Amino acid sequence: MTTLFDPLSFTRGPAMKNRFMLAPLTNMQSHADGTLSDDEFHWLVKRAEGGFGLTMTCAAHVQADGQGFPGQLGVFDDKHLPGLTRLARALNDQGTHSVVQLHHAGMRTPRELIGGRAPLCPSADAETGARALTLDEVKQVATDFIAAAKRCETAGFHGVELHGAHGYLLCQFISADINKREDEYGGSFENRTRLLWEIIAGVRAECGKDFSLGVRLSPERFGMDIGEIRRLASELMTSGDIDYLDMSLWDTFKEPEDPSFKGRPLVEWFTGLPRGNCRLGAAGKLTTGESCGRAMEAGLDYVVIGRGAILHHDFPKKVAADANFQPIALPVPEAHLVAEGLGPVFVNYMKTWKGFVAEAATA
Ligand SMILES: Cc1cc2nc3c(=O)[nH]c(=O)nc-3n(C[C@H](O)[C@H](O)[C@H](O)COP(=O)(O)O)c2cc1C
Repeated sequence: MTTLFDPLSFTRGPAMKNRFMLAPLTNMQSHADGTLSDDEFHWLVKRAEGGFGLTMTCAAHVQADGQGFPGQLGVFDDKHLPGLTRLARALNDQGTHSVVQLHHAGMRTPRELIGGRAPLCPSADAETGARALTLDEVKQVATDFIAAAKRCETAGFHGVELHGAHGYLLCQFISADINKREDEYGGSFENRTRLLWEIIAGVRAECGKDFSLGVRLSPERFGMDIGEIRRLASELMTSGDIDYLDMSLWDTFKEPEDPSFKGRPLVEWFTGLPRGNCRLGAAGKLTTGESCGRAMEAGLDYVVIGRGAILHHDFPKKVAADANFQPIALPVPEAHLVAEGLGPVFVNYMKTWKGFVAEAATA
């Protein structure tokens, strides 16, 4: 039986030393221009020291106007290279597979972050005031994702993950509800997934043969159709072009919302798909040693740890020491998060996640 502590090889790039992947976690700690801050550096390097086999950055924007959060790490300009290089070197020194998550927020970009301009979307969106990308701009999005991947490779990262989940730009293209384009990037399933495939092809063509490439998808909400996402997942996994698929499920073992997919845990709708040489993992409430073990038994190749890794920088080491490891109970005192390497901005952000941080006692 494969265990959480067996190494995991990829077609490209170094093997993970174990099956623990740090989830991409927005922490808002970078500088306003997207350059890396010391707080973001320390938060991530501490996770690599804590034993993660793969350490991923937060979603990092590939275009200035694709910014989704204040203090977001940027990868859209060579001015980001020194910080990225420093980070890659420190992560690689810990023997972790180092990855940047590439992101464009699309219509979810807050206007105030982009000088009041309208956010960008496959097609105009009344609710957010987003405007439709022109055909040239769609091609520029692909070019900028590919350039960002190349920049990450130059910085020394082992690979990148394309953020195709959570209703951001790539997900907006995939969604038949959101994407109303009438050109070759809208309409049929092939057209709606074309941008993702063009980025994948571009990364494969422009980056080295050992540069790893992952894709993150989410099968529910944000206009996603679980049947279509299963189809895309199997096409991606068997294409030979990507090294791993990262399914963002939010709750790995829950049943799907879609009535026609009830009766089986969400994760099993993906573990049963043909996988080729691609590795398959999932994120969502894998917070205990027991749930991580169960996820492996369900047929995943690796587990993706989000909030468990915010709570415990050395989550993999904790599970290695105790297969029944349980994280500290929520809500946690601020001091716990500070001791786990979160800077003040990240601690404040975690206060917006209901029930995560304990209210300070009033005098
Ligand atoms: C504070 C926070 C920030 C997140 N930022 C990102 C992100 O930048 N990119 C992304 O794909 N998912 C992001 N997510 C989702 C996580 O990667 C993960 O899929 C989710 O938290 C479920 O895993 P968990 O139950 O182990 O926390 C974020 C989640 C949290 C809690």
